Amino acid sequence: MQVVLQGVNKLFTKSNNQTLQVLRDVDLEIGAGEFISLLGPSGCGKSTLLNMVAGLEFPSNGKVLVNGKQVKGPGRDRIVVFQESGLFPWMSVLENVMYGLLLRKLSKKEAEEKAMEGLRMVHLGRFAKSYPHELSGGMKQRVAIARALVLDPEILLMDEPFAALDEQTRMVLHTELQEIWQRTGKTIIFITHNIREAVMLSQRIVLLGTRPGCIKKVYQVQASFPRDPGDALLAHLEQKILHSLEEEMAKVLKEEMGDEYNFKKGHIHRDPLYNLGSDI
Ligand SMILES: Nc1ncnc2c1ncn2[C@@H]1O[C@H](COP(=O)(O)OP(=O)(O)OP(=O)(O)O)[C@@H](O)[C@H]1O
Ligand SMILES: [Mg+2]
Repeated sequence: MQVVLQGVNKLFTKSNNQTLQVLRDVDLEIGAGEFISLLGPSGCGKSTLLNMVAGLEFPSNGKVLVNGKQVKGPGRDRIVVFQESGLFPWMSVLENVMYGLLLRKLSKKEAEEKAMEGLRMVHLGRFAKSYPHELSGGMKQRVAIARALVLDPEILLMDEPFAALDEQTRMVLHTELQEIWQRTGKTIIFITHNIREAVMLSQRIVLLGTRPGCIKKVYQVQASFPRDPGDALLAHLEQKILHSLEEEMAKVLKEEMGDEYNFKKGHIHRDPLYNLGSDI
């Protein structure tokens, strides 16, 4: 197994000195080349978990192993893509993608070739000379993906990378990401609030419960790729996950609102396209 979390617990000390347990006893094994999604209510610890794999956070107890080695910090084998593209506005698209390659001491020529290859992979070769402000949100995210891919990490960590995009752009990017994943064989750990997105893209979906975050359920998504958005089995799985997520959200809302909140099933918007949990 390429990524292994063993008995991971994470506690944060809040500004008022109280301790907040974010993750409890998380055990998870992710295979090389697997596409796995993490779903769960806001605040359940998804980003914390991803950041621990990235080496940006560390468990309070337990271990995070990548290729059998305990994670001690960030490494070349792992790259995070965030919701915000984080492009440098003063650099062209090409220069943005070249940046990390030049830091790795590639010659300008080599960096340019690789960056162009990366941009073509996300169908943005024609926009190499453009600047970030000239691009749509979806295009910026594609540049961010190209920038990550050219560094050739074994593991791509994606924290709600498409959350700010409209549904149509999101669907285009799903197709592109799926193609890239199949072509490159990267391991992808993908956080989303969008159940449909998780079902369309992943081989496995981990539903985290709250609080503290622990694994509530793991779903295998059996359908082959490319997936058919009209597949009845996938729609059924979406509904199943939605019910489990609703239970978790009811717990969060009850905790936050106390007696004022009277949760009824169906109280929450039931369209699985809706970014469930992102608005708490
Ligand atoms: N550095 C930190 N110090 C203190 N508390 C933190 C820190 N980082 C995260 N937390 C808290 O840990 C909890 C989990 O945060 P995390 O960002 O992992 O949740 P999440 O599941 O990614 O949520 P969302 O879906 O809203 O992105 C939250 O209550 C958050 O406030
Ligand atoms: Mg998060």
